[in-house]
Amino acid sequence: MYTPIQTVPLRRALIFHRLWGGALGDLAEMTDQALLYRRLFGRFTTGVAVVLGEDAGKVIGLTVNSLTSASLDPLLLLFCAHNQSQSAESFLRSGRFSVNILAAHQEDVARHFSSTRSGEVKFDCLRGKGFVWLAGSNAVFRCHLEATYPGGDHRIILGRVVDMVGPKECARPLLYHEGRYLHLEQEHQGRAFLESHRP
Ligand SMILES: Cc1cc2nc3c(=O)[nH]c(=O)nc-3n(C[C@H](O)[C@H](O)[C@H](O)COP(=O)(O)O)c2cc1C
Repeated sequence: MYTPIQTVPLRRALIFHRLWGGALGDLAEMTDQALLYRRLFGRFTTGVAVVLGEDAGKVIGLTVNSLTSASLDPLLLLFCAHNQSQSAESFLRSGRFSVNILAAHQEDVARHFSSTRSGEVKFDCLRGKGFVWLAGSNAVFRCHLEATYPGGDHRIILGRVVDMVGPKECARPLLYHEGRYLHLEQEHQGRAFLESHRP
């Protein structure tokens, strides 16, 4: 039976700190409505992607699950980045980034780019034509910045896809649900990819 959740007492806020790994915002400053919104939206199960770029020779990454394909003609995608996101600032400065759709075996990559990290990136990054991307991803979209739009405490960042690659078969995907990383329980059989689109 459906039971509406009406209030989220602040003392229970720590439960929701797991959403986005507790990486965003100060929960003490969030209203009950915002917490409730996050909690209910956490039921919308998503994949996980890392937006990757380079700034002064340093690899910059941001774990996102707000990724959406926006248009087929032209090829556009969008994601939302918090107004305080340092990574987003650097993508906007350089005007280019790659969007890497993660496989289940890349959970450590997702964790790394969703935390305040000082350590260097130890993951296998590939480079070419001014882009940097993550080896082993299920799909990589190389984008030029098309536009940004205000969206409350986030910015909506629209990228024009200039190039894309992916392995012949999709590996088991990394999922995110109610603040936790999950893997598909069901036996996953990647669908064979079109020969002409092989990386
Ligand atoms: C699964 C997952 C999805 C996330 N999705 C987003 C997102 O779509 N937009 C965003 O701004 N932050 C998102 N975050 C939080 C950022 O990854 C995190 O706040 C990061 O530390 C921001 O780094 P920066 O401030 O250096 O850019 C997500 C975190 C996780 C774990």
